[in-house]
Amino acid sequence: MEIKKITCIGAGYVGGPTMSVIAQKNPDIQVTVVDLNAQRIADWNQDDLSQLPVYEPGLDAVVAEARGRNLFFSTEVEKAIQEADMIFISVNTPTKTYGKGKGQAADLKFIELCARQIADVSTSSKIIVEKSTIPVRTAATIKNILDHTGKGVQFQVLSNPEFLAEGTAIRDLHHPDRILIGGENPEAIQALKKIYEAWVPSERIITTNLWSSELSKLVANAFLAQRVSSINSISELCEATGANVDEVANAIGQDSRIGSKFLKASVGFGGSCFQKDLLNLVYIARSYNLHAVADYWDQVIKINDHQKTRFAEKIIQTMYNTVNGKKIAFLGWAFKKDTNDTRESAAIYVADHLLEEQAQIAVYDPKVQDVQIYKDLDYLATRSLEENKSLLQVKTNPYDAAAGAHGLAILTEWDEFRDLDWGKIKTQMKKPAFIFDGRKLLDGKKLTEMGFVYYAIGE
Ligand code: UDX
Ligand code: UDX
Ligand code: ADP
Repeated sequence: MEIKKITCIGAGYVGGPTMSVIAQKNPDIQVTVVDLNAQRIADWNQDDLSQLPVYEPGLDAVVAEARGRNLFFSTEVEKAIQEADMIFISVNTPTKTYGKGKGQAADLKFIELCARQIADVSTSSKIIVEKSTIPVRTAATIKNILDHTGKGVQFQVLSNPEFLAEGTAIRDLHHPDRILIGGENPEAIQALKKIYEAWVPSERIITTNLWSSELSKLVANAFLAQRVSSINSISELCEATGANVDEVANAIGQDSRIGSKFLKASVGFGGSCFQKDLLNLVYIARSYNLHAVADYWDQVIKINDHQKTRFAEKIIQTMYNTVNGKKIAFLGWAFKKDTNDTRESAAIYVADHLLEEQAQIAVYDPKVQDVQIYKDLDYLATRSLEENKSLLQVKTNPYDAAAGAHGLAILTEWDEFRDLDWGKIKTQMKKPAFIFDGRKLLDGKKLTEMGFVYYAIGE
C-alpha cells in the first residue's frame, strides 16, 4: 500500500503540529489538514508565522519548511477526504456535557460525524487512523459506520494515539519515546509504520491490537496524572510537617524504579487530556461494574480538585480571611508554560473561587488573549459575562497586573516570570505584599529578604 496523499481532519493542537512534522519528514507525501473552522485554517495559512493558531516553540520553522511544498491547510473537507489514501481523525473529543455519561464519558459526536462524512464521500479504499483520544473500542464503532454506510469501498481502521505534550510538541514529535500503532491489518499497519520510519528508528515503533493501543493512551495519561496528584497530596503533608516537597521529590526520584520526571508539585494539573482521560477510564471501569478500579482512579481527580481549592483557600486565609474588594494579580493563565492552550487550566478554577469571594483579579499571560480568558470563565457559568468583566481584568504586561495589588499568584511556570523586576513589583504592590507561588517557580528566599510575604506549594 503506497501512501501518496494524507488528509487530517482537525487542525488543532494535535492535528496541526503532528501533520506539520509528518509533512516535513515525508516531502514526497502530500499532507492536507482540513477543519470546519474557516478562521482556524486562515490562521494556519497566514504569512506571519508568529501568529499561528497553536503556539508551540519550533513549530513556525517546521511550517515554514513544509507549507506550500507538501503541507496544505484547507476548508475543502470533502475534496481532501476523496483524494486521500490515508485519513487521520484529529478532532476534539470533549467530556459530555449532557445526557448519559454527562461530566464523564467522552463526547464522540465529532468523531462519528467524521466517520459518516468519510463514508459518504469516499470512492476509493482508505486507511483511517484515529489520533484523537477516545474511549476503548471506538475504532470498532468507526469501522462499523464505515462498513454500513459507505459505498462498498474498503476501509482499514488503525489506532495511533498521540503522546506529544503541549509546549514541547515539536521536540516530542521529532524524538518520540515510542510510536504506538494498533490494528488488525498487517498491510495497513506497515503503511503507517513506513511514514514514521522516515525519522523514527523502527525499534521505537510498537504495534499492538486495536484495543490495547486505545487503552494504552488512557492509561499513560492516567499514570502521569496520578504522579502529579501523588506529589501534590504530599505537598499538603509537607506544609503541615515542615518537610519540603521539592526535597522529597528529589529524594524519591533518585530511585530508578520511581524516576525523577513528573514529580513537580503544582497548583494542579490541567490540559485537555488528563482529566478527560481519567474520567473516561473511570466511566469505562464503572460500565464494566469494576467499582474498586473506578474509585481508585477517581481519587486522582479528587486530589487535583482539592489542590486547586486548597490554593485558593490559602490565598484567602493568608490575606486575613477576606479578599473582598482586594486586588490579586495572576501571573499565567495557560495550563502550563510554552502553550497558549488554557483547557482545564488550574488558573480558571482558582480565579472562579476567588471571584466568588468578590476579589478583583488582574491577569497577565504572555500567550493567552483576553477573549479566551473570559470564554474560560464564562464556560463555568458561575456568573454573567458582565460580572466577570467587572471583576477580572486582563493586562498586557506583568507590572500593570501587579500595580496596586494586595497579593500576587503564580499560576503558570513561564520562564520570564523568574526574571521580572521584583523590586519594582514590590514598590507597586500594597503592603504586606503577598506572593503565592503555585508553581514553586521563584526564589522564595530572595523574595522574603526583599520583604515579600512568600508562600509556595509544599513548603
Ligand atoms: C499530556 C501527556 O503528557 C501527553 O503525553 C499526552 O499526549 C497529552 O497529555 P499535556 O497535557 O500537553 O500532555 O502536558 P503535560 O506536560 O503532561 O502536563 C499536564 C499538566 O500537568 C500541566 O498542567 C502541568 O503543569 C502539570 N504537571 C506536569 C505538574 O503539575 N507537575 C509535573 O511534574 C508535570
Ligand atoms: C520494598 C522496597 O522496594 C525497598 O526499597 C524498601 O527498602 C523495602 O520495601 P521489598 O518489600 O523487599 O522492598 O520488595 P519489592 O521488590 O519492593 O517488592 C514488594 C512487593 O511488591 C513484592 O510482593 C513484589 O512481588 C511486589 N511487586 C513488585 C509487584 O507485584 N510488581 C512489581 O512490579 C514490583
Ligand atoms: P486537539 O487538542 O484534540 O487537537 P482541538 O480542539 O485543538 O483539539 O482541535 C480539534 C479541531 O477539530 C478543531 O479545530 C475543530 O474545529 C475540528 N473539527 C471538529 N469536528 C470536525 C469535523 N467534523 N470536520 C472538520 N474539523 C472538525
